[in-house]
Amino acid sequence: MKFSIKNESPDKQRSACVVVGVFEPHKLTEAAEAMDKVTKGYISGILSHGDMEGKAGSTLLLHNVPHALCERVLLVGLGKESEFHDTGYHDAVRAAFKALHETGAADATLYLTEIPLKKRDTAWKISQTAIIALESIYRSDSLKSKPEEIKRHLRKVTLGMTSQAKPATSEAALQQGLAIAHGMNLTKDLGNLPPNICTPTYLAQQAMNLAKTYKFKATILEQKDMEKLGMGSLLAVARGSRQPAKLIVLEYRGHGKMEKPIVLVGKGVTFDTGGISLKPAAEMDEMKYDMCGAASVLGTLAAIAQMRLPINVVGIIPTTENMPGGNATKPGDIVTSMSGQTIEILNTDAEGRLILCDALTYAERYEPEVVIDIATLTGACVVALGHVASGLLSNNDELAQELLHASEQAADRAWHLPLWDDYQEQLKSNFADMANIGGRAGGTITAACFLSRFTRKYRWAHLDIAGTAWKSGKNKGATGRPVPLLTQFLIGRAAQEIKKVNKDVSKNPKR
Ligand code: BES
Ligand code: MN
Ligand code: ZN
Repeated sequence: MKFSIKNESPDKQRSACVVVGVFEPHKLTEAAEAMDKVTKGYISGILSHGDMEGKAGSTLLLHNVPHALCERVLLVGLGKESEFHDTGYHDAVRAAFKALHETGAADATLYLTEIPLKKRDTAWKISQTAIIALESIYRSDSLKSKPEEIKRHLRKVTLGMTSQAKPATSEAALQQGLAIAHGMNLTKDLGNLPPNICTPTYLAQQAMNLAKTYKFKATILEQKDMEKLGMGSLLAVARGSRQPAKLIVLEYRGHGKMEKPIVLVGKGVTFDTGGISLKPAAEMDEMKYDMCGAASVLGTLAAIAQMRLPINVVGIIPTTENMPGGNATKPGDIVTSMSGQTIEILNTDAEGRLILCDALTYAERYEPEVVIDIATLTGACVVALGHVASGLLSNNDELAQELLHASEQAADRAWHLPLWDDYQEQLKSNFADMANIGGRAGGTITAACFLSRFTRKYRWAHLDIAGTAWKSGKNKGATGRPVPLLTQFLIGRAAQEIKKVNKDVSKNPKR
C-alpha cells in the first residue's frame, strides 16, 4: 500500500473513491459538505431519505454520484459530534478501510484527518490513519497450506487536506506512522509464529537479519559466555530446555557522538510451560507469546532505524524456553545472579524476572541514560488492568511521567502502579537474599520490586505487557504493542536531543 498527502479539496478528486465523514444525525463534515455542493445536494438528499444516520462505525458506499469526478463516494459515520474522541476517530478510520477493502477501488482519497478532534492535531490523525491502514491488511497465514484468498484492490491511499497544516509536518507524521506500523508488523509476525519455529536460536537469527538490514551492531552471547559472566539466574531457567538460551544485543547508533544510550530490555521466553511448577493445560498455547517483550524491542529498533532517529539505543534480549525436565530447576533451588545476589526459586513459573535480572545487570556496561524493560511478566497485571493498559513501574517518577506522556500521544495506554518499598518485604527468603515470588497480593508490583533490586545503578522503568501484547479468542493474535509507546518515547527523546544541539550551536556559533 502506497501513501501520500495531497492539498486539494474533495470535489476535485478523480480518485476511485473519496471518503468523507458524517456526524449523527445527518450532519455533514466540511469535506462532505464540499462533495454535497458539487453533487448539487445528492449527498444530503440521501441522508434525508434516512439511508444513513451517521452512527459510529457505519458506512455507506455510493456509486455513480452525479457531477462527481470520483468513481465512488464512501460516507463514514462518526457518531455524535459532541462524543467524537480518539476512539471515535479510530473506529471511523477502521470502518473506512474495512469498507474500502470490500470495493474494487484501487485507490482512495480520505478526508478524515481534518475532522476536528479535541487535543489532537492533524499530524496525530495522519500517523494514526497510517497505522490503522496497515493494520487492516495484516495477516498471519504463511503457515496455512492454502491461505484464504483475499482479493485486495486498494493500492494507493491519499490523505486529502484542505487546511493550512504545514506540509513538512504532515509528511513527517505520515513517515512516523508508517515506521511504527512497520515495527508493529515485525513484532506481530514474531509473536504469532509457533513456538517450534520461534525458538531462542530463531530469534537470534532474526536479530542478525535486522542488524544486517539496518546496520546495527549485533552480538549474540551463547550459554558458555553467560556462564562466564555468572548469569546463574538466567541459566537456571534454561536448564529444562533442549534449546540453547541466548542473550541478544543490538546496538543502534543514530547519534554521532558517544551519547549515552537508551537501553531496551525485552523478555524473550519463546515458550513458558511454567517449568516444574507446570501451568494448567487450558490456553497454554498462548505462552508462545511470552517473547512479545523481545519482539517489541526488535520492532521498535526497526521503526527508529527506518526513521533514522538521531539517538543511541541498545536492545538486550534474554531468550530461552521455560520447560520441565530431568535437569530443570526445582522449587527450592537457590541460584546466584550476575549481580552476586542469591535467589531462592520458589516457583519456576516466575521465570521472566529470573532472565530479566541478569540482562538488567548486563545493561550496566552501557552506562545507560535510562533502561526500559518490556515483559509479559504477570497474570496479575491482566487482572488489574485487563487488556487495555500496560502496567508501568519505575524507580524514577520523571521517567514514568515521560513514558505516560508518550503513551498518551501514541494512544497506546499505560498505567502507573506504585513501586513503594512497603512491598519489598514480600520477597523475603529465609535462605537466600530474596525469593522469586511475593505471594498473590500485588503480584505485578512484587515482580517489579524483584527487578528493582537489579536496577539500582540507573534510571529504570518496567512495562508489564501481559494483558496488552496479544488478543485471545476468535481474533487471537499479537497486537504489536507497545511498539507505538516505545517509538513515541524515543521520538520525544530525539526531539530533545535536536533542541539541545541547536541551543549549543546558537550559544557557540563556530563554523
Ligand atoms: N508469562 C507469565 C505471565 C503471564 C501469564 C502472562 C498469563 C500473560 C498471561 C509469567 O511467566 C508467569 O507465569 N507469571 C506467574 C508469576 C507467579 C508464579 C508469581 C503468574 O503470573 O502466574
Ligand atoms: Mn511463567
Ligand atoms: Zn513467562
